[in-house]
Amino acid sequence: MTAVPNQQTNAVPEVDYDHFVVDVREDATAVYAGIRERCPMFFTPAYGGHYVLLRHQDVYETSRRPEEFSSVTLTIPDPPVLPVVPPLTSDPPEHQKYRALLAIDFNPTRIATFRDAIREQAADLVNDFIERGSADLATDFIFPLTARATALFLGIEKEDLATFQRDAIELNTVIYTEPHRFEEVQGRVIEFYLRHIERRRQSPRDDVASHLIDATLDGEPVPDDINARLHALLNGAAGETTAAGAAGMILEIDRDPKLRQRLIDEPGVWPTAVEEFIRFVSPIPGFSRTATGDCPIGDAVIPKGEKVWLNYLAANHDPEAFDDPDSIIVDRQPNKHVAFGAGIHRCPGAPLARIELQAMLEQLLTRLPDYRVVERDAAKLLPSATRLRMNLPIEFTRGPRVDLNNYRPAN
Ligand code: HEM
Repeated sequence: MTAVPNQQTNAVPEVDYDHFVVDVREDATAVYAGIRERCPMFFTPAYGGHYVLLRHQDVYETSRRPEEFSSVTLTIPDPPVLPVVPPLTSDPPEHQKYRALLAIDFNPTRIATFRDAIREQAADLVNDFIERGSADLATDFIFPLTARATALFLGIEKEDLATFQRDAIELNTVIYTEPHRFEEVQGRVIEFYLRHIERRRQSPRDDVASHLIDATLDGEPVPDDINARLHALLNGAAGETTAAGAAGMILEIDRDPKLRQRLIDEPGVWPTAVEEFIRFVSPIPGFSRTATGDCPIGDAVIPKGEKVWLNYLAANHDPEAFDDPDSIIVDRQPNKHVAFGAGIHRCPGAPLARIELQAMLEQLLTRLPDYRVVERDAAKLLPSATRLRMNLPIEFTRGPRVDLNNYRPAN
């Protein structure tokens, strides 16, 4: 990558840069710091050309202009199959209709009721490997926990959990790794939810499917296929993102003995620490927008139809917005990161993600406090819209299983 401005496009420097290359993503904070000093906003010819915003203020403000910057395509490069997933890919006024459909389920008070069950599920998963002294934290812990938490949130039956877990992971990765299989996996996921919705029609519960069966869209009952697609979106949005955040958190703790010791000694900082890991890691490194007209950002004008990359990762490491941005400050407050986006699309699942990450942190620090990531190469980033890692092999001092009936978590 050459980070040298070499041409003026619309008063914006051009930089030869590709955020999707794994090496750039792995070492992203250093790469962005180098570019940001010279040009906080630039144009890159990569993937048909797009503008890249590195400053926190620009990312934040542009996210809050949905009429001018459309969400119709969210990723760069475009995946081989372009998913249409309202409300994520909807613009106003359509967006509000779909977001309103999900309001009951994303009520933070409802989400908080899952906390104890998620902590218990995390303890249960650790029971399965704690006597071994080694594990793959991605496949043995993170993926099953995010899937179980999402299943709780959606109200999926226990007996469906195995299918759900497999599909939850596959749906988001297959789009990049085996695009020819995307339609097949998505079809399977939609079928699965259509069956689930039918069961809920027969015997309603207090869950997403039942709420959507009772809801209306444009004055009509919500069609089952939209109900199923909303489930598929939630399934996809919830799992991979949180898993990417967890993997980053685990690697950062492994790198820094002082950080680990402070977290072990001070459980009181876990909530702010989780927020800081989310900022530092930025599990979704960025999303794109498309200019609906000739739209100004600062002194520049983004021409109609051009794409803009909201670089959350770079924005979250912007020294104008954060003191000492490349250090993990576990009690950082306030922490106005944009890892959950900003504006009308801001992530409604943030409270659930925080509960999951805290449950994982609790298990790691209380039951596997000396874990060491071995085979760091196995923990490489995947080509994906998130900073996902499929494997995270660790070793640790063996410990005892806990009796879940009498289990009192630490905090
Ligand atoms: C650490 C974990 C997570 C991260 C980093 C994350 C990040 C994001 C970001 C950046 C957006 C905004 C997209 C945009 O502006 O275009 C978003 C939207 C969304 N997220 Fe999350 N998310 C996480 C977890 C979750 C969870 C657990 C759920 C569901 C339970 C969820 C559901 C959604 C939904 C439905 C949207 C679309 C909102 C809309 O378009 O109005 N996310 N997320």
